Amino acid sequence: MYDFKPTAADPAELYRDLLAAADALTDGEPDGVANMANVAALLWEFLPDLNWAGFYRVGPAKTGGGDELVLGPFVGRPACIRIPFGKGVCGTAAASGATQLVADVHAFPGHIACDAASASELVVPVVRDGRVIAVIDLDSPSLARFTEADAAGIEALAAMLGPRL
Ligand code: SME
Repeated sequence: MYDFKPTAADPAELYRDLLAAADALTDGEPDGVANMANVAALLWEFLPDLNWAGFYRVGPAKTGGGDELVLGPFVGRPACIRIPFGKGVCGTAAASGATQLVADVHAFPGHIACDAASASELVVPVVRDGRVIAVIDLDSPSLARFTEADAAGIEALAAMLGPRL
């Protein structure tokens, strides 16, 4: 049994503990789906005030003609399965390779509302060999839920996961 309990109040310490738990669960495990599933569960357990936490992976578009984002392991309500590069918050993160910290999703042009409860969002690209291979997506029902400390913590997590997905 794995019993990772978030106890830290300070964000830097919380993310240190989250990273240590994610490292312990994914180190030496070559199955990327298993690793994403466990990390989605950890994000849900460690971070308060979320309504969705999980992954979109880069994969071939269903209709051909390049890649798009495809839903991966997550915790939350059922979500949009495919997101074209450049669309919504996730597609913008994937196309630009840059973290998207969105205080109010309704003010984000092209935001894709999978769950009407979402008010703010943090999306961080996962990069391997210089290419975006996935994004980590966190949604919250509260406006401006995510801070620069959250972005830095999730970026550190994404850097660790790059070779493990
Ligand atoms: N809101 C996202 C879509 C994914 S869901 O939040 C799970 C977006 O605009 O890309």
